[in-house]
Amino acid sequence: MYSNNKSVRTILDITCYLFFTIILFFLTGPYLLYGSTYKFDPITYNDSDSTKHTEISILIVYYSFTGNTEKMAKAVAEGAQKIPGVNVITRTIDKVTETELKHADAVLLGSPTYYGNMAGQMKSFIDDWWLKYKISLVNKVGGAFSTGGDQTGGKEHVIHSLVIAMMNAGMILVGPLEGPFGLAGASALDPVDEKALKEARSLGEHAASVAQRFKNTIR
Ligand SMILES: Cc1cc2nc3c(=O)[nH]c(=O)nc-3n(C[C@H](O)[C@H](O)[C@H](O)COP(=O)(O)O)c2cc1C
Repeated sequence: MYSNNKSVRTILDITCYLFFTIILFFLTGPYLLYGSTYKFDPITYNDSDSTKHTEISILIVYYSFTGNTEKMAKAVAEGAQKIPGVNVITRTIDKVTETELKHADAVLLGSPTYYGNMAGQMKSFIDDWWLKYKISLVNKVGGAFSTGGDQTGGKEHVIHSLVIAMMNAGMILVGPLEGPFGLAGASALDPVDEKALKEARSLGEHAASVAQRFKNTIR
């Protein structure tokens, strides 16, 4: 490429100069254009800095006739409240509104076990997501909890049914982080003990923390 011809060398010099200027512009351009306001940086996201958070809404919906599932719902709420910038709404199935469901970033569902399945009231509520509300729940965080009268009476099946319904709706499912193995949801035997409540708090905290991260990194 080296040439003794002076004009050819000048053209080559200019070409090289232009080439490196363009490369330099592409490397530094975004910073020059956006300056310090250009800060999409999910890696340095910090849970403890509540000032950076957009408030998120955690909706806990449950059905309870004799109070066991309600105790679990309250513990789920306690866990969710540990995360900064979170607004927790706890509702019985007959009181939850369409607006609350629509604006929730995470939805946690709780039901007693009836004949090995979720309570009919909970199933009707889930069916109404499409039949009545026509709300998209895609990318909302989901979680499930249940109670039952017997160790092998189906409370785990209730959790799985709730999880499957939420997966069908396009939600992102999380479980509690309590215990040596991963759990699909939090469950309690009648009467509800402290171990079950711990699981429920862990479910609420995990769901709120995932919803918080999701909202603050991907908008
Ligand atoms: C109609 C009915 C059916 C039930 N079926 C089951 C069952 O199949 N398996 C089980 O473990 N418990 C069963 N139970 C017990 C309840 O699931 C349990 O007491 C639960 O904690 C009640 O929740 P709640 O206090 O929130 O209403 C049943 C209770 C009722 C009233």
